[in-house]
Amino acid sequence: MVSKSNLSQEAIHLENRYGAHNYHPLPVVLTKGKGVYVWDVEGRRYFDFLSAYSAVNQGHCHPKIIEALTNQAATLTLTSRAFYNDNLGQYEKFVSEFFGFDKVLPMNTGAEAVETAIKLCRKWGYEKKGIATDQAVIVTCKENFHGRTTTIVSFSNDSDAYNHFGPFTPGFLTIPYNDTEALEKALEDPNVVGFLVEPIQGEAGVKVPAEGFLTRAAEICKHNNVLFMADEVQTGIARTGKRLAVDHENVKPDILILGKALSGGVYPVSAVLANDHIMMVMQPGQHGSTFGGNPLACKVAVAALEVVRDENLAENAEKMGQRFRDEMQTLQTETHLIQQIRGKGLLNAMVINDTPDSNTAWNICVQLKENGLLAKPTHGNIIRFAPPLVINEEQLTEGVNIIRKTISEYQAK
Ligand SMILES: Cc1ncc(COP(=O)(O)O)c(C=O)c1O
Repeated sequence: MVSKSNLSQEAIHLENRYGAHNYHPLPVVLTKGKGVYVWDVEGRRYFDFLSAYSAVNQGHCHPKIIEALTNQAATLTLTSRAFYNDNLGQYEKFVSEFFGFDKVLPMNTGAEAVETAIKLCRKWGYEKKGIATDQAVIVTCKENFHGRTTTIVSFSNDSDAYNHFGPFTPGFLTIPYNDTEALEKALEDPNVVGFLVEPIQGEAGVKVPAEGFLTRAAEICKHNNVLFMADEVQTGIARTGKRLAVDHENVKPDILILGKALSGGVYPVSAVLANDHIMMVMQPGQHGSTFGGNPLACKVAVAALEVVRDENLAENAEKMGQRFRDEMQTLQTETHLIQQIRGKGLLNAMVINDTPDSNTAWNICVQLKENGLLAKPTHGNIIRFAPPLVINEEQLTEGVNIIRKTISEYQAK
């Protein structure tokens, strides 16, 4: 039998030995989660300030979502789309009305939803905009992160995501983020059918565009008969203090892409939403997924969205996020370790005052873990802080105190 103190070592050894090394986790082995907390196999409790990359917005194991999951799991899990099921239509109505679109196309992971949006946009381009066969172009942004499929990494400029995965899918043009002049210029090409953008670039280090960028970008798209596609897989579902990040500017995308928190992190559920003039280009046999729209996913997603609505998670994210940034900005004035604090709602980042290839952010995250808070660096010297949106004032204060203590300990080294 493995002794208690060796449980972590054993779990880490097994992952290293038998799993592909496609991630570089912090050395902590989790076994339980509840609300804003997770526990490791040795019984230590941590604040989860990553929320599974913003999937667990509703908090770990939210009772309402778990109840929906377990009830439906004991009733019917998967029918495939070869047949109708009595949950899908209800979910489709609920999610479409929730976000204000005519229709939804259900998938499972974020990357699949992005792929779906790309296919939908291209098809609309050929059938509605009249683009010549195989000439459609989709404009994307530098430093984007939209997932890991071969097509999606075709327009990544992150060398880890891109190198040695070619040949790549053609038909993408990449412009700088937050640059409406570059967008206007790119859209002079009449073959452009869509603009795919994250309203805040999460993986790039929580890069918040200038106010007005989304509004202007949507206007430019409309003017050029180009579909504005918002990838809200990370920013959506209340994370940034509004139901959607585009709501900060009252922008309505032509195609909305959701994932992660659509299930509260309980089950892979993703979705593409659009109005009929776009969605109806997709006909039977042209796209789908065995698991997309299964009864379990439908019940879980409805419960997850009800929690967001009924517990006012967007409002809480806005309020707690403001407090978090205020506290962090005060901390910034007291240390040379922090270069910048940025973010919206509860999607925030601390830029560490060191080179991108330094280990400083990683070492700070290891120290944060020792002090009871989990966060992860993104792009070298940036630490993302994204706790579950159910966090209350007291918990936020405790989390802030841990960060404060860790930074001062690190500075003293
Ligand atoms: C903006 C964005 N799009 C797409 C994805 C991909 O989602 P998944 O990992 O579920 O495929 C992510 C994941 O982090 C994301 O942040």
